Amino acid sequence: KEDKQTPILAILEEVAEWYSLQLKEHLQRDKAISYLRKRGLTGQTAKAFGIGFAPPGWDNVLSRFGTTAARRQALIDAGLLIDKPEEGRCYDRFRDRIMFPIRNSKGKIIGFGGRVLTNEKPKYLNSPETPVFHKNQELYGLYEARKYCKRLERFVIVEGYMDVVMLGQHGLHEAVATLGTATSDTHLRTLFRRVEEIVFCFDGDEAGRKAAERALMTVLPLMEDGRQARFLFLPDGEDPDSLIQQEGLEAFQRRLNRAQSFSDFLFDHLQGGEVPDTAEAKAMLSKRALPLIAQIKEGILKQLLMDNLAHLTGMDSQRLQQWLEHDQPAPI
Ligand code: GTP
Ligand code: MN
Ligand code: MN
Ligand code: MN
Ligand code: MN
Repeated sequence: KEDKQTPILAILEEVAEWYSLQLKEHLQRDKAISYLRKRGLTGQTAKAFGIGFAPPGWDNVLSRFGTTAARRQALIDAGLLIDKPEEGRCYDRFRDRIMFPIRNSKGKIIGFGGRVLTNEKPKYLNSPETPVFHKNQELYGLYEARKYCKRLERFVIVEGYMDVVMLGQHGLHEAVATLGTATSDTHLRTLFRRVEEIVFCFDGDEAGRKAAERALMTVLPLMEDGRQARFLFLPDGEDPDSLIQQEGLEAFQRRLNRAQSFSDFLFDHLQGGEVPDTAEAKAMLSKRALPLIAQIKEGILKQLLMDNLAHLTGMDSQRLQQWLEHDQPAPI
């Protein structure tokens, strides 16, 4: 396993260095630089995140780095070359893109996200799954956040590379992003090992709201006394990048500090915004709520959620508790 990983990690490091050099030296660097400027990104930030430029062309990486059969194989294994043996060819995966190196928690580069400079699709291209890169485990910006501040108090989970980078540029160094995948149980365990609080801050659009509901269900079984999860909903059409550029760090931090609690969002989600005022509505709420509350670790939080459900339904807390323990369908 080690032997397979070593050449991959080594070549990723070499190529990342070359990508960032292209931002300074390539003949077409101007269009990459003006794109980053247009997005408000400074040279210092680009340097802090190791951002680079994969120039146009099918064989830049292949011809420079694939000088032996073993190195070509390492490039393929690293996801930097696309291998089409049946067509007898092999070519660069990332072409004409802004490159965001993705590091593991030890700081080793394990993959890339690449953004087009235009409106073409796909907007982002990520490294494929490789022996060193597992999308549902890694978080963009985690290494950088911890490098910047050893004693973080919370993490903010955002959707995109640019969100992490631009929040960092404005002085918010606690943001991490999933790599175009849903927030996984592994992501959350990784973060909760290091902090007690996670704030979910997805885009202010339909996809973002869906992602928040999924995150609610993923974080639920991990909730326990002492842990906090909160949900920040952004104004329509905004994402963390656009919003912090608009209103600055302090206003953004105020939003984070006021983000909705796990318990409030859970009950909002369960109630669909309505106070249950009939027996049927109360039964429906209990039926939905009990299996979810059952997933939370024993403790005060769980008890308080049960008390809240009791209050909303007018049920006796003890009787609800019996339903919970005996895994019964809710009382009708
Ligand atoms: P910018 O337009 O650069 O600000 O990107 P964004 O991060 O705001 O993009 P968006 O909100 O549309 O998507 C959020 C995240 O989903 C991105 O950062 C990517 O990780 C991922 N994503 C978006 N578009 C694509 C795509 O076309 N392909 C893949 N694989 N991932 C994408
Ligand atoms: Mn592995
Ligand atoms: Mn979006
Ligand atoms: Mn964006
Ligand atoms: Mn976005």
